[in-house]
Amino acid sequence: MPDLNPYKTAYERERKARVLAEKLLDEKTRTLYDKCQELEETLNSLEQMQEHLIQSEKMASIGQLAAGVAHEINNPVGYALCNLSILQEYIQAFIKLDTHMKNQPSSDKKHSYHTLRDSEDIDYIIEDIAPLMEGTLKGLHRIDDIVSNLKKVSHGGELTKKKCNVNSLIDESLKVVWNQIKYSMAIKKDFSDLPLLNCHESKIHQVLINMFVNASHACGTEGALLVKTTLECINEEQFIVIEITDNGKGMSKVTLMKIFDPFFTTKPVGVGTGLGLSISFGIITKHGGNIQVTSKEGKGTSFFIHLPV
Ligand SMILES: Nc1ncnc2c1ncn2[C@@H]1O[C@H](COP(=O)(O)OP(=O)(O)OP(=O)(O)O)[C@@H](O)[C@H]1O
Ligand SMILES: [Mg+2]
Repeated sequence: MPDLNPYKTAYERERKARVLAEKLLDEKTRTLYDKCQELEETLNSLEQMQEHLIQSEKMASIGQLAAGVAHEINNPVGYALCNLSILQEYIQAFIKLDTHMKNQPSSDKKHSYHTLRDSEDIDYIIEDIAPLMEGTLKGLHRIDDIVSNLKKVSHGGELTKKKCNVNSLIDESLKVVWNQIKYSMAIKKDFSDLPLLNCHESKIHQVLINMFVNASHACGTEGALLVKTTLECINEEQFIVIEITDNGKGMSKVTLMKIFDPFFTTKPVGVGTGLGLSISFGIITKHGGNIQVTSKEGKGTSFFIHLPV
C-alpha cells in the first residue's frame, strides 16, 4: 500500500535531492582540487622554465661578450708571452757579460765598470730579475688560462660528438682529480646500466672534473662524495641523470642564485676563477640537458645533471 503521508514523501524527496547535491558538490570539489593542483604544477614548471630562459639569455649575451673580450685579449697576451721568453734569454746573455767583466784582472776600465755597476745597483737588479720575470710570466699564463676558458663559455662545443659510456666518463674524470681528493674524500659510486650517450666527451669530462673539484673544495678532511647515475623517463623522454652529492659546507640562498654566473666565486684569488659552473651550464645546455642543484648550509650540496639520450 502506497505511503500517503505527504510530509514523509516530501522529506524523502528532499533527502534524496540533498544526497545528490552533496555528491555533486563532492565531485565538483574534487575536480576543482585536481585543477588547482594541475595549475600549481604548471605554475611551478613555468617558473622553472622562466628561470632557465633567463639564465640561457644571460649566458648567451655574456657568451658573446666573452668571445669578443677573449678574442681581443688573446693576441696581445700571445705576443707578450712570446716576447718575455725571448727577453729572458737576452737577460741571461747580459748577466753572462756582466759576470765576465766583473771577473777581469784589475785595470782602469774595470774600475770604471765597477763604479758604474755599483751606481746602477746591478747586483740588486740581477737578483730581482728572476722573480720579476717569473711573476710576470705566471700572470700572463693565468690570463691565457682565463681567456681560453672564456672561449669555452662562448662556444661550448665545436668538436664532433661520439657515443660514450657515461659511467666510464665519470670513472675517468675521477681518476684525473684522484690525487687532489683521495686524502680528503671518501667516494661512493652507485652506477646504473645506461645506454650510450652521443656527446662531446672532453666537454662532459670538463663538467664532471669541475663538479668534483668544487665538491672537494667544499668539504673538509672528512668529505664524502656520492656519484650516482640513473636512467629516468621525464615527459616520455629518456634522460641520463648524474647525481653528485657532497657533505661539504653547502651554500646560502644568495650564493645559490649566482653560482652559474661567470666569474662568481667564493674562493680566494688564485684558487677559483668562478668560470667552472658557467662553462658547465653552457656545455650541458648545448647537449640539450640541464643542471639542477639543491644545497643546505652546513649539510652539503647535490648537483643533478640531466642529459637526454
Ligand atoms: N659543491 C659545492 N659546495 C659548495 N659550494 C659550491 C659547490 N660547487 C660550487 N660552489 C660555489 O659556487 C661557486 C662557483 O663555482 P665555479 O665552479 O663556477 O667556480 P669556482 O670553483 O669558484 O672557480 P673555477 O671553477 O673557475 O676554478 C664556488 O666558488 C662556490 O662558492
Ligand atoms: Mg669550480
